[in-house]
Amino acid sequence: WGAMGHATVGYIAQNYLDGAGKIFTSHLLGGASLASVASWADSYRYTDAGKFSASLHYIDAHDEVPHKCSVKLDRDCGEEGCIVTAIANYTDRALNDNLTLSERTDAVKFIIHFLGDITQPLHTENLDVGGNEISVFWGNGTAKTNLHAAWDRSIPETLAGGSDDATAAKFAKGIIADLDTGIYKDLKEDWTSCGSIKRGTGCPKAWAQDANKLVCSDVLPDGPDAVEGKDLSGDYYTKAAPIARQQLAKGGYRLGLWLNKIAKAEQLKC
Ligand code: ADE
Ligand code: ZN
Ligand code: ZN
Repeated sequence: WGAMGHATVGYIAQNYLDGAGKIFTSHLLGGASLASVASWADSYRYTDAGKFSASLHYIDAHDEVPHKCSVKLDRDCGEEGCIVTAIANYTDRALNDNLTLSERTDAVKFIIHFLGDITQPLHTENLDVGGNEISVFWGNGTAKTNLHAAWDRSIPETLAGGSDDATAAKFAKGIIADLDTGIYKDLKEDWTSCGSIKRGTGCPKAWAQDANKLVCSDVLPDGPDAVEGKDLSGDYYTKAAPIARQQLAKGGYRLGLWLNKIAKAEQLKC
């Protein structure tokens, strides 16, 4: 996702922090909000110190879209690691007393970012470098972009009505209302039913599978040739927007509950 999407995930998660989750995140983030650090990992990946983390934003599933979609860790994760192993690793690091405060702070900032990215279907797909090499247009056929960027930014920002932080806050408010009492109310328990933070790649693998399925069903239901060179801001957007919104809802809700579980595990140590 782009910065607006990540901030939305941060605002949603902040709303679901319990007492322990608030204390734990506020301590490690020096009082900063989840939304304010949600895109840190996207600047860090372009620094010398952070270039190791570029491959941690995605997993490259290799099935034949749209006929088959699945995630296989040994096949798709890569030598330097991927978003699935990164979530498992940074969850452990956030709880590791042998690390410095600054290392544990980075671990929490990575978690906040990667629980967002893992719901972007094209962050779980190899095809054409996660859709980065599928050229498309946005809005009256003049703005040239690519399928990956359309899902990261054009679709969420068109739906939210902007790309700034205030737009994200307002967008998150509507999503929170749907999680509490609206269209996501009866879905949300399923989104967090994968198991424990201590089970290694269990939950992140399940989340990657869940997002990757959508590449076949909703992102490229008729294959890449059906969107290549097309304007996606019309009918395609109409179908895609509710999927993108639901994925951001999932990311935010999961993140809030995941951080609460980490905070509880931290309390049990003392
Ligand atoms: N680079 C390689 N695969 C990618 C993906 N699925 N998403 C983003 N960047 C990528
Ligand atoms: Zn992306
Ligand atoms: Zn990212």
